[in-house]
Amino acid sequence: MKRLAWISVLVMLAAVSFFACRRAQEPASGLQTASPLSNPPSAMAQNAVPAVHAADDGLALTPPMGWYPWNIFGEEPQNEKLIKEIADALVASGMKEAGYAYVGPDEGICFYRGADGVLTTNLTRYPSGLRALGDYVHAKGLKYELYTDAGTKTCSTAMPGTKGHELEDMRQFAEWRTDYIKIDWCNSEGQDIVKSYTAIHDAQHAAGRPIIHSLCSWGEGSPWLWAAAVGHLWRTTADICAPGNADWSRAMRMAFANEKLAAYAGPGHWNDPDMMIVGMPGMTETRNRSFFSLWCMMAAPLIAGNDVRQMTKSTVDILTNLEAIGINQDPLGIQGKIVWTDGNTSLWAAKPLFDGSRAALVFHQGRHSAEKLLKWSELGLEEDAACYVRNIWTHETAGPLTGGITVKVEPEDVAFLRISLKNDFPVPPVLVADSYRVSLRTSAAAPEVLTGTITVTNKGGAELPLWKVGQGLPSWLSVKVTRSGKSQTFVNTVSPSGLKKGLYHALVRADNIEPVSGRPMSAVYYDVDLEVSRDVGNQPD
Ligand code: GLA
Repeated sequence: MKRLAWISVLVMLAAVSFFACRRAQEPASGLQTASPLSNPPSAMAQNAVPAVHAADDGLALTPPMGWYPWNIFGEEPQNEKLIKEIADALVASGMKEAGYAYVGPDEGICFYRGADGVLTTNLTRYPSGLRALGDYVHAKGLKYELYTDAGTKTCSTAMPGTKGHELEDMRQFAEWRTDYIKIDWCNSEGQDIVKSYTAIHDAQHAAGRPIIHSLCSWGEGSPWLWAAAVGHLWRTTADICAPGNADWSRAMRMAFANEKLAAYAGPGHWNDPDMMIVGMPGMTETRNRSFFSLWCMMAAPLIAGNDVRQMTKSTVDILTNLEAIGINQDPLGIQGKIVWTDGNTSLWAAKPLFDGSRAALVFHQGRHSAEKLLKWSELGLEEDAACYVRNIWTHETAGPLTGGITVKVEPEDVAFLRISLKNDFPVPPVLVADSYRVSLRTSAAAPEVLTGTITVTNKGGAELPLWKVGQGLPSWLSVKVTRSGKSQTFVNTVSPSGLKKGLYHALVRADNIEPVSGRPMSAVYYDVDLEVSRDVGNQPD
């Protein structure tokens, strides 16, 4: 029923969007590519539909973090200026430093299909083009997020869907340098959901750019049963709110529905109970804190949905609490679940963390404050173990304590704790880059050596081994990794000797093993662009 009501809202929006999405055309780019288009990772070629999509591409091994416009804005105000302002605000507010990376337009992307069948930028809304917007986002050290629909049209019906155009659309998303695509399920009547999303997955592999696929069928077709093979996350519920206003009770119903699917989540394949409503109208500081704690406990994607250009200090502090984010980004990737509930208060636990500690959340929905005993045995610890208790919101540690701890919780509030045998609560690696793009240009016809760097810093506690750069780089590029404290720099050296005039591109992949858990980290990818201004001679012997 709720879905039907929502569809009628979208039908009204469609009338607006039809005109809003009128457009001017983007010129075709003359890019020659030496990217993985010609060098797909061998595992991909051998195993077109792996059991877990991320096993090949190394993407989203921890829940994706970023920002998406729909919750606060809806479709209408989305344009190049807004997305750039949001990218700037993610950096200025400290959210980027806390791990939020993916950003871009949603339904307001407003592209259209040209006469040649190719998706084309709406230059009225995005005057520099969708590729240039991606370059802007990458230059900020953020990653680029775009949107499409697996049906014939997007939800507003104003834009074309991917149905029947899978390969050309995935090529265009690669051309726009997309890192993440949300793929809606509107206007898909009569389509087989598994075949539709599998066709998009196969096309994306053929197009050769590893991209996070966020499937958005609102739980339709039970994606948790099959989507790990073709995507990285899937919506489990309907929209969390209508654009503009948070709906607390609706959000809590979704959290409890998503909780039931805990068994299906893990590194590279996540249940998605929708974008966050932290900091939106309709929320209080207590609700913001509780909502964020629940999403962290559920290993849910942390996609902010508020206007990050104007946040209170309290909202920033909640969204950037690295101790909470560390629980969400834990490399074991276990989704916490309800251990007990008395109708008013629930204990969310069953979330062991990489260092052997446990996360626990006491969430209170009653009308009066409550005192609850949290027993070590409920967390899988020995009753007589001497444990330290870290309060994730006050940043205080109690202990050592045996048996358990009594916590007092106010209405709609939480006690968010981490319990350990050691008085040490390390935050797992949280990666932040200064850029995801190196852009170089030759100046002469004589051979020369050009260098550009990307620096990735680990904001978490543990020190990472050196990143390993994969094989398959084009002959004109070599990459060396150097370390300085918690930062590592990828030194990209380009030798354009013997290259013809033109544009060249490489996508570099780097892998690492998380040092404490020993699990692979989400891979880092970045683009290297080389403009050869005129034919270059061969290197003298
Ligand atoms: C669906 C999705 C929303 C948003 C809109 C855009 O309703 O669930 O998150 O992307 O489409 O139209």
